[in-house]
Amino acid sequence: MSEHQTALVTGGASGIGRAAVERFLAAGWSVMIADFNADSGAAMLDDCKTRFGAGDCRAAFIRVDVSSEADMQTAIARTTASFGRLDCMINNAGIGGAFGPVTDLDVADWDYTFAVLVRGVFLGTKHAARAMKAQGTGGAIVNTASIAGLAGGIGPQAYSAAKAAVISFTKTTAVELAPHNIRVNAVSPGVITTPLVETGRADVASVMAPLQPWPAPGMPDDVARVIEFLAGDGARFMTGENIVIDGGLMASGPRLGDAIGGDPASRGLTGVNRGSTGLGHVVTKLTED
Ligand code: NAI
Repeated sequence: MSEHQTALVTGGASGIGRAAVERFLAAGWSVMIADFNADSGAAMLDDCKTRFGAGDCRAAFIRVDVSSEADMQTAIARTTASFGRLDCMINNAGIGGAFGPVTDLDVADWDYTFAVLVRGVFLGTKHAARAMKAQGTGGAIVNTASIAGLAGGIGPQAYSAAKAAVISFTKTTAVELAPHNIRVNAVSPGVITTPLVETGRADVASVMAPLQPWPAPGMPDDVARVIEFLAGDGARFMTGENIVIDGGLMASGPRLGDAIGGDPASRGLTGVNRGSTGLGHVVTKLTED
């Protein structure tokens, strides 16, 4: 990453966004932290100054509601005014949104969920792409989606539908903006230990242990390092992609092996099932070495 590149990170005062801000700053970028929560934004700026030194911390904070077009326009204008350019837009701000039986969901809660998760990504993309086009040097946009956008049974209805919309929007805008050298990609985290998840359930690590193949819990920096990759030259031929970062959760699928008689390997068996061919099956009990 070069010395003078600039990123704007929405939801940058907590969790995944905060980890991305820290990575960009450590790599020498200038960063505009845009977040609804002014208290955590101010605390984060203080931390950055302590960590990088007040003179060397090229970070600024702006309070925004990502669902407000005026706020997003101002945030991007402030970024280019403060740092001279915008190379990377990270549309990451999020909330858990509406939950409960679909028959009881409140329309205002549904709209709030979509306003933050989908309209926010649209507005960030719209105004960042305008600035990048005007700059004429291209850029990278990274949207935080979720594995909840890829299948049922992972998140509430509004959240899952909104994240599916983010994945779709990533692909359509990637195609549209490619001629301007603007790449658009998404990351889809699995369960990551952040305040968003921890407020819902304190024992996340123990709940995930039997479900997630990777033995360690997902941490914000696990996602931030992929965001950093997508922002940089290493991903210069990648656009319209959605990268899943979930410790193998989606790869493990619905675990039908466990549901239909269990996994033979875990019961110490090996062999071949020849189906209904009339040929016999082979089942061998593994011996311990
Ligand atoms: P977090 O709660 O730690 O951070 C989210 C940040 O977004 C907060 O600082 C909050 O103030 C800010 N924010 C919320 N609404 C906003 C608005 N209207 N305008 C501006 N800022 C706003 O949550 P986390 O986990 O870091 O989430 C970041 C993104 O990652 C979200 O889009 C979330 O949906 C997504 N995600 C998180 C997963 C997880 O397991 N933590 C899994 C999959 C996706």
